[in-house]
Order: sequence, then C-alpha cells, then structure tokens
Amino acid sequence: MAVTIVNGLSWGDEGKGKIVDLEAKSADVVIRFSGGNNAGHSIKNEYGEFALHLVPAGIFNPDAINIIERGVVIHLPSLMGEMQELLRNPDVSFQKFKISPFAHLVMPWHIAEDQGYEKEAAQNIAGRATEAIGTTLKGIGPCYKDKAGRWEAFRVCDLVSKKAFLARLEKVYASKAKWLRARFQVELPSFDAVRTQFLGAREYVLPYIADTSHIIQEALAADKSILLEGAQGTLLDPDHGTYPNVTSSPTTALGALMITGIPSSAVRRVIGVTKAYVTRVGAGAFPTELSHELDEKLRNIGKEFGATTGRPRRCGWLDLPLLQYAVAINGTTEIALTKMDVLGQLPKVQLGTSYENGVSGAPDMTRLSEMKPAYEEFAGWGNLAGARTRADLPDEARRYLERITAICSIGHVSIGAGRTETLTM
Ligand code: IMO
Ligand code: MG
Repeated sequence: MAVTIVNGLSWGDEGKGKIVDLEAKSADVVIRFSGGNNAGHSIKNEYGEFALHLVPAGIFNPDAINIIERGVVIHLPSLMGEMQELLRNPDVSFQKFKISPFAHLVMPWHIAEDQGYEKEAAQNIAGRATEAIGTTLKGIGPCYKDKAGRWEAFRVCDLVSKKAFLARLEKVYASKAKWLRARFQVELPSFDAVRTQFLGAREYVLPYIADTSHIIQEALAADKSILLEGAQGTLLDPDHGTYPNVTSSPTTALGALMITGIPSSAVRRVIGVTKAYVTRVGAGAFPTELSHELDEKLRNIGKEFGATTGRPRRCGWLDLPLLQYAVAINGTTEIALTKMDVLGQLPKVQLGTSYENGVSGAPDMTRLSEMKPAYEEFAGWGNLAGARTRADLPDEARRYLERITAICSIGHVSIGAGRTETLTM
C-alpha cells in the first residue's frame, strides 16, 4: 500500500501546496484532511499561480480523485467561490472531486464569534479574560467547538434534505444571534441573507457529496497511491503545538490517519515540509525570531505575507530542536525543504542548533518562550538558479543541508516557486 502524508513541520506556510502539487502528479487519490479556509496553499505550475484554501492541491492532476475529508471544516460560500475561480481555467476539472458527508460546516455565527473574541481580547486590555490568538478570523475555532459540542453543529450531510436543513438553520440562527448580541453586541447578517447564501452554495456542492470512506478503503484494497495533504503545521496542533496559540484541528501525520481511517501500516512516506527558515503568523512563542531589521528584510525577499489574511509573517532562523521535535512527533521519513534560494540571499545565515538554557535534546514545550537559541553561522550562498542536483549547490548550502540531514534525510529542496525548481535529493 502506498500512502504518502505531506504535512507541515512548523507554524504553517511551509510550502505544503508546492510539495503536494509535485507529489500529486503520481497520486490516484489526494485528500485534504483537516483545517478549513484558514489554510492558504500557494502553487505555481503550468496552469498558473494559485492560493488554494479548501480544494486539495491535487486538483491539477485530472486523473486523481480529490477529496475533502471529514476533519475539514467547510465554509460553503468560500468553497463555491474557490471552485468557480479554479474553473475559469479550462484545464481544471472537478469531475473527480468528492466531499465527505461528515465534514462540518463553518456558519456565519462561527465567524462572528471568532471575530468577537479576538477583538475583545485585543481591545479590552485591562479586563480581558484572555490574550488574542491572532486567528485568521475565519470561524475555525468556534466551528470545531460546535463539532465537539454537537448540539448546534451542521455537517455536509445535513444539506441533503432541504426542508430539514432550513428548519434547523432557522432555529440555530435564532439561538446564535441572541447569544452573539448579548455576548459581543454584534448582529448577524439577516436570516434571509444567510438562507439565500446557503441555499445557493447547497445546490452547488450537492453533486460532490460522496461516501469518501468507501472510496478510500477501495483505493487501499487496490493498492492505489494515496496522498494526504496537511494544513497548518505541527507546532499549530492543538495537542502538540504551542497551545493556546494553535489552530483547532489535528495537523500531525497520525492526525491524518485518525481522520481518514487509514491504518498506520499503510503509510510508506511521511514528508515533513519546512522552509529553510521559519515563519509564524499570529501570536505565540518563537525562539529564533529575527530582530526587527532582518525580519523585515527576509519578509520582503521571501514575500512572507499571509496567503489567507495578507498579514505580515514573523520570520526567524530554522530551529533544529523544534524541527527534531516535529520530526519525532510525525515519524517524518523525509524532509522537503523549501525556499532555500530565499534564505541564501541574506549575507549571513544562522541556524539554531540548541537552546542555551534548555534541556539538551527535545525542547521543553512548557517553557518555549524562555528559550534562548545557540546558533551556528553560515555565509549566504547566493543565487541557486539553474541547480539541478545536490552537487550543483554551493559548498555553504550543502553544509547547511548536512546539519538538517543529521535530524532526518532530505527528499526535496526547493529553490524557486515553480514545479521544476525543485531538486530531488
Ligand atoms: P497553512 O495551511 C499559517 C494560525 C493563525 C493563528 C492560529 C490560529 O497555509 O499552512 P485559526 O484561524 O486556525 O484559529 O488561527 O493558527 N494559522 C496559520 N498560520 N498557515 C496556516 O495554514 C494557518 N492556519 C492557521 O495565524 O496564529
Ligand atoms: Mg498559510
């Protein structure tokens, strides 16, 4: 059985879209398993440049079945918009696109609640109950909250009966509108507007609902090649990341299996994606974060602005203790290292190799914000354009890669945004 998992090893935005696009060329089934449109997977290929939020990055392989699995939370109007946008490209097809009936729906009140908490936490400094998380404001946390709560959740399968859907929509709308008004003094869009929006999106997605569990089990039995596409990253995982500055659904390799019902014995490769440096959007610990001036420089060279929110990403050096932690949590079998070309444009590059004040080996995740990294320095390796193999890379770049290889072997090194600008090691 040939299951490959691609997931992020840091705080998201590692370049997962690019690696999935590459690996999807030979996949029979591609599955997005968690997160929602908080994700932004950037892809540049022969079809153009895209930022995908909900649609799996395997959509550019016309022969592959692309699935949104049950662990994903779907904002229907966004999914519809994304599909319509992709369909403007005559070569993209949704003929083999499937949506799990058990995926949950992000509703307008989830977005209002996300915004309500974040706004309150940011403004009411004296009396605030909590610090702002810096979420994407897409309603992700509140949707998973309702999923766990069960009483007021909506799933894709609830769309099937229009009558039952509308009846429940009206009831839950009334209850949520009342709560939001009392709690945050905000008003939802009118029920008529919500109704119209959801009825339109419902019609649009109904044909894609399918028993995805059956498709997955059949593909496993037939020894097909299955690719699992992670969203966010290991350090944003609610259990293994930097809680509470995390997202609300599993981001790890085992999380992918839990959600898709694929047994661990079926997994052949676990590709962990990381940039040659690290970025983070939103609040939270970041031991190797750069000083203001360098931060701005790397952000501009690497175009480190969120694909989903446009927010500037905080930039830092690669952190080997955290990388080692993420590789261990996921059972990563190979690393895909992206943006090696971007990092090399700095005159001097640092690599966090240990924490001066930490226990050696695994980082103490309870004290991450106190950690002071120790660095090893490298001279910038400059332009990597035209390199085809590891041997074509400058010495200093190869030395940098060797330090990472000591943690886990490297499968791909990306030296540009396009499909062809990737070295297979
Ligand atoms: P991809 O798939 C980077 C971050 C947010 C915030 C925290 C919680 O493109 O790598 P949420 O909206 O999920 O409740 O926000 O998680 N975050 C991401 N950061 N890339 C992502 O996705 C992210 N998805 C969520 O910035 O800090
Ligand atoms: Mg992103």
